[in-house]
Amino acid sequence: MARNLKSNPDWIRPLVHELHPYTPGEQPKVKGLTKLNTNENPYPPSPSVLKALRGSVDERLRLYPNPTAQPLRQRIAKLHDVEENQITVGNGSDELLGLATRAFVEPWQGKRAGRVREKSLVQYWTPSYSLYPVLTDIQGAIRHEVPLNPDFSMPSLRQLKKEQQWNFDAALSFVTTPNAPTGRGYSTRELLALCRAQNGIVILDEAYADFAEQNAMELASTLSNVLVSRTFSKSYSLCFQRVGYFVGHPDLIHAIDCIRDSYNVNGMGQIAALQTLRSLSYYRSNFQRIKKCRNQTAQELEGLGFNVLPSQANFLFVKPPLAPASEWFNGLRRQKILVRWFTTGQFNDRIRISIGSNQEMKKCMSAIRLLKDRFES
Ligand SMILES: Cc1ncc(COP(=O)(O)O)c(C=O)c1O
Repeated sequence: MARNLKSNPDWIRPLVHELHPYTPGEQPKVKGLTKLNTNENPYPPSPSVLKALRGSVDERLRLYPNPTAQPLRQRIAKLHDVEENQITVGNGSDELLGLATRAFVEPWQGKRAGRVREKSLVQYWTPSYSLYPVLTDIQGAIRHEVPLNPDFSMPSLRQLKKEQQWNFDAALSFVTTPNAPTGRGYSTRELLALCRAQNGIVILDEAYADFAEQNAMELASTLSNVLVSRTFSKSYSLCFQRVGYFVGHPDLIHAIDCIRDSYNVNGMGQIAALQTLRSLSYYRSNFQRIKKCRNQTAQELEGLGFNVLPSQANFLFVKPPLAPASEWFNGLRRQKILVRWFTTGQFNDRIRISIGSNQEMKKCMSAIRLLKDRFES
């Protein structure tokens, strides 16, 4: 029906006409597929979380949820030993990253409008999380992309100051730590040096921190320009519920709270996340299983001739031997193993493999061995 109706392109803002939506990883419904493409946790939420969710399906559904997710924020505050007003919760950390862009970055209206360019600058490393450029474009701000070193480590502060590519006055800088898609971890010491030298806001996106040796949560309390972003999606097996949070200075948290929707985190999400924090030992043993499996998989892949980047996350970013990454991606898919291949950009010679359960990784490794034999013959 709607196809016969005429719409008017002028109804949509010119900026929006130019946007390209973020491309999420595929969620195919193929029977028997081993899904290793979006860094989801292979293990289910704890039995007590499932029970709490089941128990939440009652007459409360007609009521609005707690607008500030207060019980959950209190529990998060206790976990990180911070105050309640240092925390805001979002509909996934993605929502918070977007809100931060809106709260801290001016849309760019050009020099003629008398604006300071740095106020519109969103800065991030390449490669890192591919949502940042999308959020920058939505805000009508300026993307400032700075390449990591060839081995994907972060240039030292001295190097950054010398090469003058990194902008210390950017309104907002995103640092994914550990990095995605590379999996590379950064030390708290180097992050401290970077954040301290920065005049604008820095968001340390720690979506994968539970799989790493170090995290930089302490910087959320020791530096007033730092927000640390965490999510319940990956380490806490709750992608479906969409819950993430920021920890940082109360003034920054207040700024986010001023522009977020009052009921941005749904009731079941709050219940699930709260119960998750009451079952931490269950999740901590899953982190250990995933890390062990990651390290074993990395070793096996290296043995097969893959170039494997050291990973502090729940995935491996690898350059396969013998054939282009696209052929590995397609060959694995034919065997019902779905990994991630970033088709565009300079990293399209690699594939990213999320760490699944031990059984899933066995299947993945057999498929890889079979494919390698085929490429060799
Ligand atoms: C680096 C990074 N940050 C944030 C997110 C988003 O997490 P959430 O599910 O909390 O929105 C992802 C998800 O892939 C990610 O890779």
